[in-house]
Amino acid sequence: MTRRVLVVDDDAAILEVLEMRLTAMGFDVMATRDAQTALGATEDARFDLALLDLRMEPMDGIRLMESLHERQPRLPVLIMTAHGTIETAVDAVQRGAFDYLTKPFVRDELRAKIGRALATRRWARDRERLLAVGQTLASSGVMDRVLDAVAQATVETTEAERCVVFQLQQGRLLPMASAGSPPPSWPALETAARAAMDKGVPTTFPGIETGAIVAAPLLVQRGPAGALVIETPSRVEPTEDDLELLALFSSQAAVAIRNTHELERLRSGALAALGRMATQVAHELKNPLAGLRLYARHLEQRLTKTGDGDGAALAQKISGTVDHLAAVVSEITAFGRPPELHRAPVALHALLDECVSFAQARITTEGIEIFRIYDPTAPPQAMLDARELRKAFLNLILNGLESLAPGGRLTVTTAWAADTKALTVTIEDTGGGMPDETLSRIFDLFFTTKPQGTGLGMAIARSVIDLHGGELSVHSVVGQGTRVVARLTIEPVPRRAEGTAT
Ligand SMILES: Nc1ncnc2c1ncn2[C@@H]1O[C@H](COP(=O)(O)OP(=O)(O)OP(=O)(O)O)[C@@H](O)[C@H]1O
Ligand SMILES: [Mg+2]
Repeated sequence: MTRRVLVVDDDAAILEVLEMRLTAMGFDVMATRDAQTALGATEDARFDLALLDLRMEPMDGIRLMESLHERQPRLPVLIMTAHGTIETAVDAVQRGAFDYLTKPFVRDELRAKIGRALATRRWARDRERLLAVGQTLASSGVMDRVLDAVAQATVETTEAERCVVFQLQQGRLLPMASAGSPPPSWPALETAARAAMDKGVPTTFPGIETGAIVAAPLLVQRGPAGALVIETPSRVEPTEDDLELLALFSSQAAVAIRNTHELERLRSGALAALGRMATQVAHELKNPLAGLRLYARHLEQRLTKTGDGDGAALAQKISGTVDHLAAVVSEITAFGRPPELHRAPVALHALLDECVSFAQARITTEGIEIFRIYDPTAPPQAMLDARELRKAFLNLILNGLESLAPGGRLTVTTAWAADTKALTVTIEDTGGGMPDETLSRIFDLFFTTKPQGTGLGMAIARSVIDLHGGELSVHSVVGQGTRVVARLTIEPVPRRAEGTAT
């Protein structure tokens, strides 16, 4: 199938050269000097790639790219510029360009970057989706949720109008999950699903109003168990890529169906394996990172000596980033360490105070109030692992503080029950709370909703509390806040050992 390329440049000469070259490379080229014409063209057809000049009037290449992405989110864009500075290139890529090209064009560079943009397109854009589906598969025991995630990911990656997952149950095809707008005709989708199941491969059918219906069978060992069906909008012709993607997603849905009964087991196994793998990878990263940090520092010193301030500042940014990476890596390796507690007499209230003040120092939100309500009857000291507990409580308190808007409140409470020797530590915030979806995943390794989060905090906290033979529970209401309760059974330190250490 011929790939379609859109070229927009206000310089007629360049436009002509590019059109010739790209046509010679076998592309179907639409070349124009006018941004509005380019935008209009996307109404009727879908492009595989766009080359946009950076400096154009009245709409520059980046703005045009953003408008094109509103219509066709996955369109790979190469930004062309005669005045290529590193800043403009970085800016273009950060705002969604695949890469940039400097004018005048170097023949091989043009060819290489176009090739890369076309080849990487699928994986670069779809990686996130696949990851999301994979995570749902690993963390959810509910098949409906997996099928929903597959339908959603399919709509987003194929730009389909809608997606429906059918499952065969007692000879009947039932729609189990859907995403996108409701279909104008269910029978048409069902017919397509049946036909694809008979054929055993993804198949395209003419759409009801316009566009096309594509169905991919869900193949489980004993034959088709259903089908994944999409309907595309009128202007979109499904490409080979789309068919392949659909086959990929339908295989994910098939896995979900196959594992319905086994998913719980799969889940814990997969997470444990993921944890082990992460630890190994982190371990392998440690030495090269240490080397990198050394080189960057060395470079910084040399550049400072030669008076190259800008260069030195860049080198400093590199070391800063490497330091951050090293910190993440050591957190991961620490998590993978074989669990072993070093118990010693610990003054728990003092330890909580320490965590509160440390967490407070890391938060910049204004007007936050922190209350401490400690049970005076609680034993002053108990045999616990201070280092591990500090990690756990620090993260729980940090999570609470991070959830607060200005004026919010965090309360740390302890309660001692002498008869059961249970000490309960409650950390309660008046922050944004969590929806059930989030709540069900907070203990999953690497699950985070924060841009800078590692998603390890809650997993660490739970494993520390577990190791102490305690229990951690979380209650949360969206818009009201979250209450985390750690219940520890503690062994008070006998009198003569009191005051020895914290
Ligand atoms: N008190 C809370 N209020 C609202 N959401 C919370 C709270 N505690 C945890 N969460 C949710 O649980 C997710 C996982 O928390 P966790 O501590 O494991 O990772 P993180 O805070 O995102 O990153 P890290 O702690 O590694 O920096 C958070 O991203 C957040 O969505
Ligand atoms: Mg956290």
